[in-house]
Parts: sequence; C-alpha cells; structure tokens
Amino acid sequence: MPIINRIAGMKDEITGWRRDFHAHPEILYDVHRTAASVAEKLTSFGCDEIVPGIGKTGVVAVIKGRKQGSGKVIGMRADMDALPLDEITGLSYASKTKGKMHACGHDGHTAILLGAAKYLCETRNFDGTAVLIFQPAEEGGAGGKAMVDDGMMDRWGIQEVYGMHNQPGMALGTFATCPGAMMAASDRVHILVEGKGGHAAKPHLGIDTVLVASHIVVAMQSIVARSVNPMDNAVVSLCMFHAGSAGNVIPQTAELTGTARSLTPKVRDLLEARIVEIAEGTAKLFGATAKATYKRDYPVTRNHARQAAFAASIAAEISGREMVNDNIMPVMGGEDFSFMLEARPGAFVFFGNGDTAPVHHPAYDFNDEAIPAGVSFWARLAETAMPA
Ligand code: NI
Repeated sequence: MPIINRIAGMKDEITGWRRDFHAHPEILYDVHRTAASVAEKLTSFGCDEIVPGIGKTGVVAVIKGRKQGSGKVIGMRADMDALPLDEITGLSYASKTKGKMHACGHDGHTAILLGAAKYLCETRNFDGTAVLIFQPAEEGGAGGKAMVDDGMMDRWGIQEVYGMHNQPGMALGTFATCPGAMMAASDRVHILVEGKGGHAAKPHLGIDTVLVASHIVVAMQSIVARSVNPMDNAVVSLCMFHAGSAGNVIPQTAELTGTARSLTPKVRDLLEARIVEIAEGTAKLFGATAKATYKRDYPVTRNHARQAAFAASIAAEISGREMVNDNIMPVMGGEDFSFMLEARPGAFVFFGNGDTAPVHHPAYDFNDEAIPAGVSFWARLAETAMPA
C-alpha cells in the first residue's frame, strides 16, 4: 500500500507549515511560537484534547478513533526545537533569527506529525486512541525526559511509543530501524586542569597546564584503542581545549570539554571510570591536578524488538520492502527519544532525506519531498496498530 492519496493531496499545505517553522526557529525549551502554532493547528483539526505545557513547553494531543473497544493507546512523537547556528542556505524561507536554525529537520518532523493529526482527525479509522507528542529541547535539553517526568505516559495511558528522524544520505522514501540499540548513550565530559601559571621564559617555576592537558588529550585516545573490547562500540571525543590568554604566559588552568558515546551499560561504566582515572592520573604525573566530571546525559536509544519489526512492516507497506532496512547498524549519535523508550515499549525509525547537506550543517534543509511518505507512515502506523 503506497502513499495515502488524501495525504499526497495535503503535501503543499504541510510544506507551508514546515517552511513557516523553518523561518522561525526556536531552541531548547523556548519553543513558544512553534508550540502555539502546533496547538492552534491541532485545534482547527478537531483533536479531542490538546494540552500545552507538558515538559515545560511540549504539547500533547489526543485523537480518538471511531471505535473505542480495543483500549489501545499509541504514542507518536515529533521534536520541535532548532539549533544555535547561522543558516547559509539563502532560501526564501531561511531562518529570520540570527544564530538559530532548523538544521536537524525538526521543522519537518513537526509538520509531518501535524499532517498525520489532520488526516487522523478526518478519518478516525481506528479502534483506540492516538496520542501525538510534540516535544521541546531534543538538542541537548532532554525535553523528552521532561515530558516523561511530567507524567505524560501514565496520564494518557500510552502503551507503545514511536519516533522518527530524517537522515540525509538515505534515499527519499527509504526507512531504517533495528531491534535493540539503535543510537548511543551520549554523555558529557569536562576536565579542569590546574597547574601553576607564570612567565613563559621561566617554565621551571611553573606547572604548564597546556602541556598537561595535551597529554590528557592523547592518553584519552587509549580508552577506545586499549581499554574497550574491540567487539564493543565506543567514542571518546574531546572537542574543546581552552587555555591561555597571552603568548608569554603559562596559564594557571586549562579546560577540556567533550563527549563519550557507548551502546551498553558495561561500556558506559568503563568510559566513565577510565576518563576520570586518566585525567586525574595524568595531571598527577606532572604535579598538576585535574577535576574530571562525567555527566550521564541521554541513554541508549534501545528499540523493542516487536515494535521495531512492526514499524518496519508499516514502512514496507508505504514504500515497498526493498526500501526498508529493518536491521541497520547502530549509530553513535544520541537522541532523547531514548527516555520515552525507557518508559514504554516502542521503536525509533530513520527516514530518507535524500542527497542533502548533513544534519547540523549550516546548508542543511529538510527535504519536503519526504513529507508524503512520513505522514503516510504515521497514519498507517496508527490505523494498523489499532485496527478498526
Ligand atoms: Ni535531530
């Protein structure tokens, strides 16, 4: 069963919503305009219940099927937030806000779930309740966790939950998922090295934090190479190195900031332990001190096998089996839909954005040609999970 005709007919309207979101990006929890626009559209479609302010600025909408005998409740989630960077696309609908941009396609995700809401309100061809989840702060603010912590799953009796993210480089109309770990646990690393500042011409009187922190950076690369089992997956990236203010001053402190990624609790524990040991031990070697902080951020996005297979079967109905990979290799990016998957069984799927700039790139733009397949996926998922 291909793209739903009614949905194909809604493509221009949904594209209009998407480009309006794109022109007005908002970041983290500050998605007031977007959330208000989402709630207004959901109201015009005739949703049975619309509740803003879940997880600070999230919006939850309820659509009841024509039949209410099954007692089934299916959650479907989109993220609404943009990123703090400057857009360089030059598009007519490019960001109107300097320093903010929809560079991850959450504008597309939101518009697509709205399209599904419109279709499901019109047709209601299912037996049960669809709960549409529009979350803030996916990009580093744990908005998904905030909505779960706000009691969303229990309040609406959500039994299963699904999420979707576009992927540049995957052909339009293709979908991908897998059972088990699909995206990594994403943790924050911060290391403050303290030495002894002084004159650059008298290094013997100081303790050079640039040298100490440099050794820490190099030693950290031994964790994946020499501490993690080669059959496991891990990433340690130190991405910021801040020290010094003049060419003739040995700085008193140096600061390293980065991220650690893993797919299992065992590897996550190992990364935390080794990062702290290496930072503190290396600093000690040179007579300096280091304070290493390892903050556990997003957990592993772990799909439940039955729901992942179900989502893949829906994607195959829309696009054809040859367009669906139901066993992709996990990726080491993080995703806060993981918190929803810890609360309820469900699955996350990628869908193709075609040959566009990668996400988080200043030239990225969500591909509107992906809209019909995306909306059809949500619509069929609700109708098939809760057959009338
Ligand atoms: Ni994203």
